[in-house]
Amino acid sequence: MSYKRTLVTCALPYANGPVHIGHLAGAYIPGDIFVRYLRMRGEDVVFICGSDEHGVPITIKAKDQGVTPQDIVDKYHKVMKDAFTGLGINYDIYSRTSSAVHAENAAEFFRKLYDQDDFITQESEQLYDEEAKMFLTDRLIEGTCPKCGNPHAYGDQCEKCGSTLSPEELLEPKSKLSGSTPVKKKTKHWYLPLDKYEPWLRDWILEQHKEWKTNVYGQCKSWLDGGLQPRAVTRDLDWGVPVPVEGAEGKVLYVWFDAPIGYISNTKELLPQSWEKWWKDPETRLVHFIGKDNIVFHCIVFPSMLKAYGDYILPDNVPSNEFLNLEGDKISTSRNWAVWVHEYEQEFPGCEDVLRYVLTANAPETKDNDFTWKDFQSRNNSELLAVFGNFVNRAVVLTHKYFGGKVPANLKPEAIDAETLAAIKPCREALEKYIETYHFREALKEAMNMARIGNKYISDMEPWKVAKEDMDRTASILYTCLQICADLAIAFEPFTPFSAEKLRGILRVGIDAGTDHRAGEGTPTVNFYKADEGKAVHTRPTASSPAPAGNLVLNWDMLGNAEILPAGHELGEAVLLFRKIEDDEVNAQIAKLEAIKKAREEAEAAKAAAEAAKKVEPQKAEVTFDQFGAMDIRTATVLAAERVPKTDKLLKLTIDTGIDQRTIVSGIAEYYSPEDMLGKQICILANLAPRVIRGIESRGMILMAKQGDGKMRFITPQEVVVNGAQIG
Ligand code: 2FM
Ligand code: ZN
Repeated sequence: MSYKRTLVTCALPYANGPVHIGHLAGAYIPGDIFVRYLRMRGEDVVFICGSDEHGVPITIKAKDQGVTPQDIVDKYHKVMKDAFTGLGINYDIYSRTSSAVHAENAAEFFRKLYDQDDFITQESEQLYDEEAKMFLTDRLIEGTCPKCGNPHAYGDQCEKCGSTLSPEELLEPKSKLSGSTPVKKKTKHWYLPLDKYEPWLRDWILEQHKEWKTNVYGQCKSWLDGGLQPRAVTRDLDWGVPVPVEGAEGKVLYVWFDAPIGYISNTKELLPQSWEKWWKDPETRLVHFIGKDNIVFHCIVFPSMLKAYGDYILPDNVPSNEFLNLEGDKISTSRNWAVWVHEYEQEFPGCEDVLRYVLTANAPETKDNDFTWKDFQSRNNSELLAVFGNFVNRAVVLTHKYFGGKVPANLKPEAIDAETLAAIKPCREALEKYIETYHFREALKEAMNMARIGNKYISDMEPWKVAKEDMDRTASILYTCLQICADLAIAFEPFTPFSAEKLRGILRVGIDAGTDHRAGEGTPTVNFYKADEGKAVHTRPTASSPAPAGNLVLNWDMLGNAEILPAGHELGEAVLLFRKIEDDEVNAQIAKLEAIKKAREEAEAAKAAAEAAKKVEPQKAEVTFDQFGAMDIRTATVLAAERVPKTDKLLKLTIDTGIDQRTIVSGIAEYYSPEDMLGKQICILANLAPRVIRGIESRGMILMAKQGDGKMRFITPQEVVVNGAQIG
């Protein structure tokens, strides 16, 4: 179907932590590439994102830190917004679901569905914290997993064994808010009857959207085949958009109901007059960029909401990536296993494009993928720097050296020049096809192929040698190289915009990057370059201050043309597009991760040991009073202690039992050194039949307490008594 405009959204990230590279690779960089590309193609695009500021995890974090949920979201909204800007992810608006526009819009959306009788209500028994006076969502309940015994399982899931749970299944459930045992209490909620939409969804997705990416289509199919159930869209919570109907006091909209409406609210905030054309005109194409954990909400729940409301368009595509791992391990905010984007920007200033490049070249488009710092380094050093940067630098430096920094005339062309330039077009066509079908990794390969074509050409032609005898031929070679440089300044704009802009600065050209809506109801933006008082200045023309005449402005249609830069066009200074990433820099990052892993493993081991220590053995079989009475247990003192040679576990102890002095060999050397034992009053079983251990006769046994962690501790009387006092 043809369309007039495209509305692109990226998943609204939760404002309970900063953005990491997994988020970038999953949704944000692909979304930005797509939008930059469309804008360059002259399409009308609105690019929407913002922070998802509701939901239980934010309330838990606030409670843990002793601050308000608003404090948490204010902090992370800013961190995330700045991180996106720093990486050149150019949303038309990055707003937040705590905005007034959203509160009103989300409430209106619910109200319309309510008035149309689209919801069903159900009363159910939920767990309630009587101390905190709050219903507990699954994540606010902690207890012992019935499957694996993990004492910190959540009401919906055990993170240790991966089982899906319901709060009722937990053993000894406790409220995370007050620590008290929750009670059951009745509560009413509103449900969206997804089962009702199932036949329609089956047709819309499984029949009409067979072109969706396999992972997206497959997940939808398995949800639909499993049968859809009504889903509660309200929660008992005091953080969120209040449910705007009577009888819903103390309830808010479920975060997954309100967040996608945030896309609409943010469009409304940006374009108060014209937002409806973006959401309701069938000639608008809607595309959601998301990570794979969001598929069901964007392909099943939100479309059902839109369908129920009526009037709204539905997504044309929902490109979703798989997960990115980090150095072989799952990225996790709670385990601090991540590369945080704001930290990266501080630690690698000027290398924003490197991250964009690596995350695209290695994008988890069809399967989970791994980010490693070594791969990051090698992609920078041997691809961006050695191919792209090196080619541009050689072409520009030689032009300055031989032709005073002006594009030379094509004085002595040869067939290879035209063939080389002609090889750019097929790359462009493939790149376009890949971007338009959401295969950004392949698209980037095509852009890189253009750089490889240039790099190979200049290496094969060796203009620095030709210049010794044939200046006319040198002119043609550099002329050809500079045309390819201009191609790269266009083709890389969607992928590595900072370097593309830097390159345009070197080439002294601007670019028509299309129209954006950042200024509200549609302000055309053209990026151009002008030489101002001898220095390079980039500026955006506005209606009142248009681009000065004479500036060469590139555009997408020029990509692959035989001549983009005319002879005589003056270049700027050669500056390096990329710098080398040194071993030290990546080793420091690897060391940082190793330290995090080590600290986590130690903390986990300490926690496991503490848990294990609490475990007690079940009671042994009954004994008779006489059997007990037969045992001669008494106090004694250690007079001397030494290790039994050639063993790790045994100590030879000389004991004063009150009746004699004797030797007892005891397996406690792992826990106590001979010095620890010296002079200690202990308890022994005195009448144990003697045994010879390692050639030493041992007469009796030291009584030790053994707990779940396996550690043995000797038992010493609370008050000092004589040796030989009988215990019983
Ligand atoms: O997974 C997440 O980070 C969610 N906050 C995404 C929400 S997308 C949308 F619905 F707003
Ligand atoms: Zn478990």
